Amino acid sequence: MLKVVVLVSGGGTNLQALIDAGKCGTITNAQIIGVISNNKNAFALERAKQNNIPAYVVSPKDYDSREIFNDALLNKIDELQPDLIVLAGFLVVIPEQMIQRYRNQIINIHPSLIPSFCGTGFYGLKVHEAALERGVKVVGATVHFVDEGTDTGPIILQKAVEVQPGDTPKTLQKRVMEEAEWKILPKAVDLIANGKVSVKDGLVAIDTAQR
Ligand code: GAR
Repeated sequence: MLKVVVLVSGGGTNLQALIDAGKCGTITNAQIIGVISNNKNAFALERAKQNNIPAYVVSPKDYDSREIFNDALLNKIDELQPDLIVLAGFLVVIPEQMIQRYRNQIINIHPSLIPSFCGTGFYGLKVHEAALERGVKVVGATVHFVDEGTDTGPIILQKAVEVQPGDTPKTLQKRVMEEAEWKILPKAVDLIANGKVSVKDGLVAIDTAQR
């Protein structure tokens, strides 16, 4: 059983997608053993509590420096001993030590088709604003392993979504979540939990043989 810790900052709809997928069997061989938020007001914490998942707050506001916060975050994760860490809308720069310690064990959901609209400054609604400003006709979401760069790690899954006439950043964000994020994030966790994902030379291979 893959032990999964989910890191969140906000609403937690991706966390909910993972919880629901576990309940209905879309994800097998995995269990969410903890949720950590940097934001004590994140609704994601409520979702965890409603589903009897231990929820923790590790906020930079409670520490004197970024270094001490980073240590506290890493300590909490080490304590939980996860096999996989999922960044589900976690808007904190991941400490380098954590990336090294959990190499190819941290995945992130990003609301664009990487390498478009990603990197520093591209998060949440800003991604969709930039896509509409550029006038692209296809957007989407990406699940990738986390490396030292911002949104640069090996890509696991992507799903495209069409832009519709009249879209606003909010309507586009909603469609990308519904049609892409909430599907590919649980799918990636299921593939990893069932030993179907490997990384070689910075690229992901997925074993597509039927279970
Ligand atoms: C999601 O759209 C996720 O892709 C995005 O934040 C949102 C969190 O929503 N993440 C990033 O932009 C990371 N760069 P949620 O809290 O409802 O899952």
